[in-house]
Amino acid sequence: MKKIYSNIYSFNKKTLKKTVNSLNQGNIAGLPTETVYGLAGNAYSDRAVKKIFKLKKRPSKNPLIIHYDNYKSASKDVLLNKNFFKLYKKFCPGPITFILKKNKKTRISSVATAKLNTVAIRFPRHRVIKTILKFLDYPLAMPSANLSSRLSPVNALDVFDEFKKKLKIIINGGNSRVGIESTVIDLTEKPKILRPGVITSRDFKNFFKIDLTKRNYKIKSPGMMKKHYSPGIPIIVGKKPKSFSDAYIVFGKKFKNFKNYFNLSKKGDLKEAAANLYKIMRKIKKKGFKKIYVSRIPNSGPGIAINDRLLRASQ
Ligand code: TXA
Ligand code: MG
Repeated sequence: MKKIYSNIYSFNKKTLKKTVNSLNQGNIAGLPTETVYGLAGNAYSDRAVKKIFKLKKRPSKNPLIIHYDNYKSASKDVLLNKNFFKLYKKFCPGPITFILKKNKKTRISSVATAKLNTVAIRFPRHRVIKTILKFLDYPLAMPSANLSSRLSPVNALDVFDEFKKKLKIIINGGNSRVGIESTVIDLTEKPKILRPGVITSRDFKNFFKIDLTKRNYKIKSPGMMKKHYSPGIPIIVGKKPKSFSDAYIVFGKKFKNFKNYFNLSKKGDLKEAAANLYKIMRKIKKKGFKKIYVSRIPNSGPGIAINDRLLRASQ
């Protein structure tokens, strides 16, 4: 059994060194963050970044998030502004990604940013990724560690599921605490949320008003394509299954414990539901169900992000 997963390592001094060396050589590693696991490579290296796109089968038009240890290292690559510092102080390190204008002197690979004049940056909180970043003299380009349009992985075995032995190193950092991808907020003009997450517009209300207009954004989030986050089987949202052979994702205490029922949060906690979403969808797929039905999830707080992912998964 052990041999099958010979590329999954626990985190210690020895594997930290191994990972840093491997990244320095331009390789790609599967690493944990508090949101989801990522496919990490040197963001300053075209060669490393190209490997990430190839592994994921990701369209070259869809830019990657660049991950830093702290804002000082990010300031070499992007133009930090007032709104950024307000949110940085409050939420970083944490599950939030900022879109900012590129610094002309940036060394970030233009492949990583899909040649845009903006960059997505994030400061992850997970102990493993934070430690690794401290030992590197470049930031990490790191999309979620799944094949393009599939479910994001929330533990080391999920990453193995996606890429098997194509990765030399996957670090096991336990289950991702947040369980869905970071909130993406565009700060290049009037703040606008491009991808909802567990940090919501409500959390921003003390800092500024969020632009809610549906102006046709030039960049939008290229990755917010319609079909996304797919478990690979049909998903029907807002309906009940007609038979026990279909899985039913539910939320709250009013639901029974039938074998085909999967409760995102028995106590009705939307944060817990977000943390369970991908884990449960993967489990259902593994159990061989051919269809997933989902009950209504409240559309507030983290529920907005959950419904966003479910809607895209159901396309
Ligand atoms: O939680 C996360 O953000 C995870 C972990 C690993 O950090 N990463 C992640 O990366 O979700 P990815 O590549 O799966 O999603 C990045 C999203 C995509 O929708 C992409 O289009 C968008 O960020 N993005 C990247 N650069 C952008 C830019 N300059 N302008 C607008 N959207 C951008
Ligand atoms: Mg992704």
